[in-house]
Amino acid sequence: MDEKKAAKRDEVNPVGYHDGEHTKNVRDWKEVYDFLIDDSTLIPASPDPDCQELRTITNPWPENPSQFRVVCQEYAREMEKLAFKLMEIICLSLGLPGGRLKGYFEEQTSFLRINHYPPCPFSDLTLGCGRHKDFDFLTVLAQDDVGGLEVKRNGKWVPVKPDPTALIINVGDICQVWSNERYKSAEHRAVVNGEKERYSIALFLVPSHHVMVKPLEELVSEEDPPKYLPYNWGKFYATRNRSDYKKQNVDNIQIHDFRVPN
Ligand code: OGA
Ligand code: NI
Repeated sequence: MDEKKAAKRDEVNPVGYHDGEHTKNVRDWKEVYDFLIDDSTLIPASPDPDCQELRTITNPWPENPSQFRVVCQEYAREMEKLAFKLMEIICLSLGLPGGRLKGYFEEQTSFLRINHYPPCPFSDLTLGCGRHKDFDFLTVLAQDDVGGLEVKRNGKWVPVKPDPTALIINVGDICQVWSNERYKSAEHRAVVNGEKERYSIALFLVPSHHVMVKPLEELVSEEDPPKYLPYNWGKFYATRNRSDYKKQNVDNIQIHDFRVPN
């Protein structure tokens, strides 16, 4: 616990160890360690739209276990390659050049999250991770053999069969917006287990802080107008980070806030 506390994240540095995350204003039954793919990443200093100040964030690596940092970084590099490959394939599937989106990631804010869900004696009263859609372009998720991830399909929660040899790919909100809803982000949650602890590791692929996220020009037309107003990724991220710590009186920011009414 001392090592974890030394690598603790706070409202200024949104990476590192955290055990009090709130998803949609409800506290999750989990602890996480978040780390950036590119150590030293620029993000807005404040969610305030008028504030232009930027901040460099760096990973607070724990000293122990001594191999932790190297192993995490090696894993991140491999998953990053896979994520960018998948991005290329998604571009091709949309009739775009494979490298169409790559430029938005030059100063990527992508990060990985190690989730640890301790066993919970009241597992029917709480969730490891509340229902949500990932705010990124896509997520690459690895998990152990315990199980707990559920995906919403036709209004029902469907458990995902755990397979430690497989990776789960989630379409995120940024993919939904860029593709003007040809892709839809997947709603999911993680339930907790009464007896067993569970681990999962997610890579969240997200662009540079200055990118304005909006439906791609090639994918909109008079018949198919943009379904979203542009939003600044860095400001969205900074706003969302603020709601991760405590219950707020307002709902946290969602792409729905930028949806153009039908
Ligand atoms: C997440 C997430 C699910 C899981 O971290 O965004 O949805 O199975 N995790 O741990
Ligand atoms: Ni998720």
